[in-house]
Amino acid sequence: MGRWFVERRAMMWGWRWLTVVLFFVAAVAAAPAPTSSSCPLNFTVLDGFPSVVAHVRGSDSLEKKCLDLSHGMDVLLSVYLKSTGYFLPPPEAAESCIQAQELYFQEPNITQLCGLSPALISRGTDNCQRIQTREDFRNITQAAGVAASLDTCKNSGALADGNTKSAACAACTKALTFVANSLRGSGNGSDNLCLDYTAMYTGAEVVTAGPSDATTLLCLWGILAFEVSKENQLQWWLYLVIGAVVIFFGASCAWIAIVLRRRRRLKQSNDEFVTRTKGMLHGSMGEHGGGLTWYNIEEIRAATHNFDVEMIIGQGGFGNVYKGVLPDGREVACKRFKDCTAAGDANFLHEVQALASVRHKNLVALRGCCIASLGEGRLAGYQRIIIFDYVKNGSLQDHLFGNKDVDDQILTWPQRLKIATDTARGLEYLHSGVQVQILHRDIKPSNILLDGDFNAMVADFGLVKFTPDGMTHMTTRVAGSFGYVAPEYAMYNQLTERSDVYSFGVVLLELISRRKAMTPDPVTSELLIDWAWRLIKEGHWEEILDKRLTDLGTAFEMERFVMLALLCAHPQVYYRPTMASVLRMLENAQQVPSLPDRPVPVTFSKAAFQAALASSSSSLSMSFTTSKSSVSHSALI
Ligand SMILES: *[C@@H]1O[C@H](CO)[C@@H](O)[C@H](O)[C@H]1NC(C)=O
Ligand SMILES: *[C@@H]1O[C@H](CO)[C@@H](O)[C@H](O)[C@H]1NC(C)=O
Ligand SMILES: *[C@@H]1O[C@H](CO)[C@@H](O)[C@H](O)[C@H]1NC(C)=O
Ligand SMILES: *[C@@H]1O[C@H](CO)[C@@H](O)[C@H](O)[C@H]1NC(C)=O
Repeated sequence: MGRWFVERRAMMWGWRWLTVVLFFVAAVAAAPAPTSSSCPLNFTVLDGFPSVVAHVRGSDSLEKKCLDLSHGMDVLLSVYLKSTGYFLPPPEAAESCIQAQELYFQEPNITQLCGLSPALISRGTDNCQRIQTREDFRNITQAAGVAASLDTCKNSGALADGNTKSAACAACTKALTFVANSLRGSGNGSDNLCLDYTAMYTGAEVVTAGPSDATTLLCLWGILAFEVSKENQLQWWLYLVIGAVVIFFGASCAWIAIVLRRRRRLKQSNDEFVTRTKGMLHGSMGEHGGGLTWYNIEEIRAATHNFDVEMIIGQGGFGNVYKGVLPDGREVACKRFKDCTAAGDANFLHEVQALASVRHKNLVALRGCCIASLGEGRLAGYQRIIIFDYVKNGSLQDHLFGNKDVDDQILTWPQRLKIATDTARGLEYLHSGVQVQILHRDIKPSNILLDGDFNAMVADFGLVKFTPDGMTHMTTRVAGSFGYVAPEYAMYNQLTERSDVYSFGVVLLELISRRKAMTPDPVTSELLIDWAWRLIKEGHWEEILDKRLTDLGTAFEMERFVMLALLCAHPQVYYRPTMASVLRMLENAQQVPSLPDRPVPVTFSKAAFQAALASSSSSLSMSFTTSKSSVSHSALI
């Protein structure tokens, strides 16, 4: 037990010694280096005034550089004075302050070059009456009776105004010189630093804004705090140019990106358009869609000489029809839709659908279609083109009324009869030969095309109407052409297959008479139908015949055709035969029934109008019909 206690005491002594030794070592290590101390001046203050540093670093003369250096140091010393009460740092900091100064201004040897000795930057020398502290300065100036003069420098806000020294500043500098001179006067040779000391003191102790204020700098040391040197200006221009170039490149890149994006989007939307339209066609046409030939837009362009104006063979509200020659030499007609809206889509689909669902030798054959989207400009964007077999001889309109109708090549009666029969066959097929009845709605000479052997083909399915099963009357928007639209359709929007029969009747009458449906008689100003009715009623049906025809059939035969034409174009729907009957009558396989009288002329004729007014009460119904008809015609416009 006792032995344990002794051992423990010895151990405690050991610990104590160790602790003392460690403490001593630590104390020696922590002691400050006795020889040099770091510079107490706060160079960060100068960061706020780039022009000072720029001037010292700049390429001015050495004299000017040194002046700016000493002014900059004065500001630092003034700040130092304000915080410590001493004008200069202690002597042991002199060397480090010179190093710090050269490091800060990045001008090696500047102190030596400017002739600044370490003595000028540290205490212990006999500068300006040996003033070392602010108390010294105060006591000496008070003793000299000049202390109050510096009060003019108090108002810092007015010391300098912008980049120019103000009147207040001028008064202040005057006071500074006065005080410095009075200090210098009572001292000896080394007192030429008195002005610096006075300025330092004023900045630190008098000016309310303090020594590092921009106006104080400008007034006391003449430093334009934010003035930028020429080199910096040059750099500024350089930065500006570089910035402009960078911005330009950035903008260009952005622009290119936008253009590329737009192009990609356009292409994407175009691809979508093609896929969607093809999909719609396949969807709506079922089994027929599969047989449709798709042409490449480049093929069509090559075929039509890039849609050359010279190649236009037809024009309409939908767009133009171009003639084209395919690489295999086959001639085609290309109907190019110009409407790029959703309605255009519908029109296009409608016509392709109609064409694809019929195939008959008296109907213009669909060869294929072309849907394309070109990324070149907005207008060229969507292309919808229907390609037909080209029909060589142009339209019936050209032959009957156009410039082709010169006397030596007029259509002969057998040719005209064949054209009528072919047209009737085509219509009969549309009305009853296909699953869903199709109404053409726009039968007229310009829509009847003739091939090399004057076989007729019905063309332009732009207005066709599909009639759902079991529906005999449809109410639709009136479509068609003046002179060929059945009255009940024009007036009451009632559409049946007999409306096509009416149009056919008008065309047949035109074939027989070679008079246009809408060109009034030069004498009586009657339109074709009324003119024909009048002649029949007067018993002069043969006057209806085209005078130039030489190879007419027998009078009996010809009268039948005239009667058939008027029967087809009868204003009352129920008197018109079906296309099937018309066909049989044309082929002389069926009798033409006697022509039922019609109540009144459909069109306006002044003489008939007045006669009717004078005669009976039936005139009322006539005038009623007349006004109705004019209304319907304006509705067509
Ligand atoms: C040095 O001056 C700057 C700017 O005036 C100031 O923010 C900073 O506190 C000063 N540093 C010291 C150690 O006084
Ligand atoms: C600075 O001074 C030293 C010695 O006087 C000299 O060797 C050195 O080249 C000088 N440096 C510059 C940049 O002038
Ligand atoms: C300044 O003057 C006051 C009295 O006027 C005196 O007490 C003080 O010691 C003087 N200070 C110095 C550093 O001379
Ligand atoms: C002038 O300076 C010398 C030494 O530099 C000094 O001994 C002397 O006292 C000074 N005179 C006055 C009036 O302070």
